Amino acid sequence: MDESPHTVTTLPTARQPGRPFDPPAELLDARRHGPISRYTFPSGKPGWLLTGYDLIKSVLADPRFSSRKELMLHPTIDYGGIQIPPAPPGEFLLMDDPRHSRYRKPLMGKFTVRRMRLLTERLGQITADHLDAMEKAGPPADLVTAFAKPIPAIMICELLGVGRQDRDSFREQVDAFMDAEAEDEDVLAAYTTTQHHLAELVAAKRAHPTDDVLSDLTDSDLTDEELRGIALILLAAGLDTTTNMLALGTFALLRNPDQLAALRADPTLIDRAVEELLRYLSVGKTFIRTALEDVELGGQTIRAGSPLILSYNTANRDP
Ligand code: HEM
Repeated sequence: MDESPHTVTTLPTARQPGRPFDPPAELLDARRHGPISRYTFPSGKPGWLLTGYDLIKSVLADPRFSSRKELMLHPTIDYGGIQIPPAPPGEFLLMDDPRHSRYRKPLMGKFTVRRMRLLTERLGQITADHLDAMEKAGPPADLVTAFAKPIPAIMICELLGVGRQDRDSFREQVDAFMDAEAEDEDVLAAYTTTQHHLAELVAAKRAHPTDDVLSDLTDSDLTDEELRGIALILLAAGLDTTTNMLALGTFALLRNPDQLAALRADPTLIDRAVEELLRYLSVGKTFIRTALEDVELGGQTIRAGSPLILSYNTANRDP
């Protein structure tokens, strides 16, 4: 028999005053009651909120929980029964197998040791150039605009083979269509412009392949539309995540001077520091899955079709 679980009525995002890195108090409180809580979605559909580390890990590895876009419910907005279409070709982040592996497999194959070595060298050079420029410009420096935003944008553009002359406009368009506070029509316009530029980029790589992931992928059975979708996902998934890690990671170290001093005293700690900052900051906070069949989970029966919210930032503070 199911134990009666805790119920969460709202999904708060506001931080506690003076605790900018911690999840909202209500979510931490939910986790203290147990790794799974009931949560009713704004449309009235009953679902679940997962806050326990082990439980979330088990869901991520379980194909009975789907990432498909068309099944997803927004955790805080009621779209009034509008049927969401499946993810467009290539945008594999919101797909399950076999659609997912049609894109993921060939893409993985392009992240070769050689390419990663070249990108790492380039990254070192680009980072040094940006630090030099900040030093030359003198204080005050804005880490976000001078460092955290441009470096991921340059790296992803190099991965996709976007020419230097187009990089600023790419970044601006992606910023515009990922701006959560922008008007719908502005987001749609920026999305359409980005798609247009990506179509031109794919055509250029087919005609004149260069040494980059997108050019390499033209040597497969993927269509232009699919290649455009993959490129869009790399831009959308790789920019803000990395920018936020660089900026917030620096902020977190400045707020924790003992940790910063430890890292400065022993730079070989950097890999562990990055892992720890990924956990501590959890810049990707909330993900959704949908149960494809009835599943027993954490002492509860999750009915087929139920939406689950995975609260990564809360799980990443699970003792
Ligand atoms: C610190 C930086 C990053 C963080 C914290 C991060 C986080 C994540 C998370 C949590 C997911 C899983 C989403 C889910 O399960 O629904 C994901 C997926 C993904 N990310 Fe990132 N990401 C980062 C950087 C990047 C970069 C730089 C790229 C590309 C250049 C990228 C490309 C992707 C792609 C393609 C997926 C989908 C994978 C799949 O469905 O097989 N990410 N990322």
